[in-house]
Amino acid sequence: MCGIVGYVGHEAAAPILLDSLRRLEYRGYDSAGLAVHSQGRIQILRTVGKLRNLENALAEKGLPGSVGIGHTRWATHGRPSEVNAHPHVAGPIAVVHNGIIENHLQLRSQLEASGVTMSSDTDTEIVSHLIHRESVGGHDLVTSVRKALAQVHGAYAIAVLSAAEPDRVVVAKKASPLVIGVTRQATYCASDIPALLPYTNEMVFMEDEELAVLEADGFSLSTLGGAALSRRPRRISWSPIMAEKAGFKHFMLKEIFEQPRALEDTLRGRLDRENGDVLTAEIGLNEDDARNIRRVILLACGTSHHATLAGRYWLEDLAKVPAITELASEFRGRDAIVGEGDLVIAVSQSGETIDTLMAAKAAKERGAKLLAIANVNGSAIPRMADASFYTHAGPEIGVASTKCFTAQLANLLMFSIWLGKRRGTLDAAQARELVEGLARVPNLIEERLKPSLDAISEMVREFSDARDVLFLGRGLSYPMALEGALKLKEISYVHAEGYAAGEMKHGPIALLDARVPVVVLMPRDRHYERVSSNLQEAKAREAKIIGITTAGDAEAQALCDAVVEVASTHEALSPFVTVVPLQLYAYCVADHKGTDVDQPRNLAKTVTVE
Ligand code: F6R
Repeated sequence: MCGIVGYVGHEAAAPILLDSLRRLEYRGYDSAGLAVHSQGRIQILRTVGKLRNLENALAEKGLPGSVGIGHTRWATHGRPSEVNAHPHVAGPIAVVHNGIIENHLQLRSQLEASGVTMSSDTDTEIVSHLIHRESVGGHDLVTSVRKALAQVHGAYAIAVLSAAEPDRVVVAKKASPLVIGVTRQATYCASDIPALLPYTNEMVFMEDEELAVLEADGFSLSTLGGAALSRRPRRISWSPIMAEKAGFKHFMLKEIFEQPRALEDTLRGRLDRENGDVLTAEIGLNEDDARNIRRVILLACGTSHHATLAGRYWLEDLAKVPAITELASEFRGRDAIVGEGDLVIAVSQSGETIDTLMAAKAAKERGAKLLAIANVNGSAIPRMADASFYTHAGPEIGVASTKCFTAQLANLLMFSIWLGKRRGTLDAAQARELVEGLARVPNLIEERLKPSLDAISEMVREFSDARDVLFLGRGLSYPMALEGALKLKEISYVHAEGYAAGEMKHGPIALLDARVPVVVLMPRDRHYERVSSNLQEAKAREAKIIGITTAGDAEAQALCDAVVEVASTHEALSPFVTVVPLQLYAYCVADHKGTDVDQPRNLAKTVTVE
C-alpha cells in the first residue's frame, strides 16, 4: 500500500505533490511527507496522521523548490510516527517507497555492522542507506540506485532525490505500481492514475525491474540492468472531475449513485441485443477455445472475490463449465493443481493486488490461459494476462468498493453468456432474455437508489447500535450477503457475518436474540421458500429482520420488521439489485456513527503487500 508521487518542473513542487497525494490518500493515511530540492539542499517535512496535518505544516513552514517527492503511508514496518514517515534520508539521499523489502532484517544488520545508525523501524530507510553507500563510493544517482536495488529482495516503487543532482528524480519499480505523467513543461510520477489526472492524461506505465530518470523536459527509461528502453505515453480517458465528490458527502455515496452510469459504460458496445449475444473480442478466446475450456478458476481478493462467487454460479449455470473460485492468497499459498485447459480469470479493481497478481502469475506459468478483469487500464494484472476484459467504472476513490463490484458482476455475467452461447448450453431465447435484462439493469438500479437511501437512512436509527449483524442469502444472494457483511464491517466497524442461509442452523443461530438484526436477501427466485423458512427460524429467536425483498412482495414484507424493496428481475440478475441496498445500509450506519467512510481505519484501497 502507501502512495508515492514525484514532480520535476518549473512550478512550486510542494503544492503539486500535496494535491497528488490527496488523490492517493485512499492508499494509506497514517502519516505523510515531502522532500523538495531547495536552495542547494533537500528539505523534508513529515507529519503523523492524515494529509491535512502535512498541509498545515506546509502552510506554516513552506518548502520552496520545483523538484520533489512525496508519500502517504500505510504502516507495515514500524508504527505510524514521524520518524517512520517517509521520505527517509541518508546523507544527501531522500527516498519514498511503496512495497516491502523482504530481506530488510539482513540488510539492516549488515548496515549497522558497518557503522550506520538507523533512525526508524522501517524497511525503506535501508534503501536510502544502500543508495547513499553507493554514492559515497563515487557513483552518480542512477548507478547508485541500480547497485542498491541489486541488493534488495521484495516489492518496491521508489522515488529518489540526491542533493548532488537537483534537476531530477530517479524512480524504479518491481511489483508495486508506478506511472509516469508527461507534459511539455514537467514530468510527474505516482502510484496511481488519479493522482496525475489534473495535470496530464499522457501516461507511461512502468514495468517491473525498470528505472526512469525524470527531468523537467522529459524522462529516460531503462531496465534495472541498464539497457535503454523506449515507450510512448498512453492517453488515459479518465477526467479529473471523475475523481471529485461532485456534491456528495462522501466518495462512497457518490460511487454508489454512479452505478447506473458505471454499468452503462461497462456494457456499452458489448451487448448485441438484436442477436441476444455478447460481442467482445477483448476476451481473447476463439470459438474453439470456448468449447475446449476444461475448467475455469476465478482468483481474487475481498470484494472482488465476492464477485467471482457470483461468477462461478453463472459459469456453471449458463455455460455448464466446471468453475471454482479461490481466494488468491490461499491459491498461491498451496500447491494448486492448474495447467493447460484451465482458464484462469483474475478479477481485481486495481489490477495491482499483490496476492491476485502472484496467484495469476503462478497459474499462467503452469500453462493456464489468463484473462484479467480489471478497472485500471494498463495495471499489472492486465499487463501480464493473455487478454483483458476491462470494467469501465471510472476511478473508484472510496476505499470500500461499490461501483467496481457491480461492474465486475457485469463482466462476469457477460463472459458467462458469451461462453454459454459458444458451448451450446444457452439457447437463443435464454440468451436474449439475459442480454435484454442486463441492458435494463442500470435503469432498475437508478429508479430505486433515492427511495432506498431514504428508507435506509430512516431505518438505521433503529439498527445502528447493533454490535453484530447477520446477512443471509441463498444461491446468488449468498455472495451478496457476504459482500453486505464486508461492507458493514469495513466502514462502520460493526461485527457482521455473511452466511449461506441454509448454514444458519449449523452455528450462527446461537448468536441470535433481540439485539441481533438479520438482513435477509429474498428476491423471488428458486430459493425463496427455503429462505423464508430460515427467516422464520431467525424470527423465532426474536431477531429483528430486515428484508431485501422484491417490490410488492406482501408475503415477505409481512414477515419482516423493516423492508427495502428492490426491482423485480430475471433470477440471474438479482445480485445487481440486491447488493445496492446493502452498500447503502453500510454507508448509512457508518455515516450515522460518524466514522471515516472513505478512509476507514487500517484499510487501504490497493493492497500491494502480501
Ligand atoms: C472492500 C475492498 C477490498 C478489495 C480487495 C481487492 O471494499 O475494496 O476487499 O476488493 O482489496 O482489491 P482489488 O479488487 O483491487 O484487487
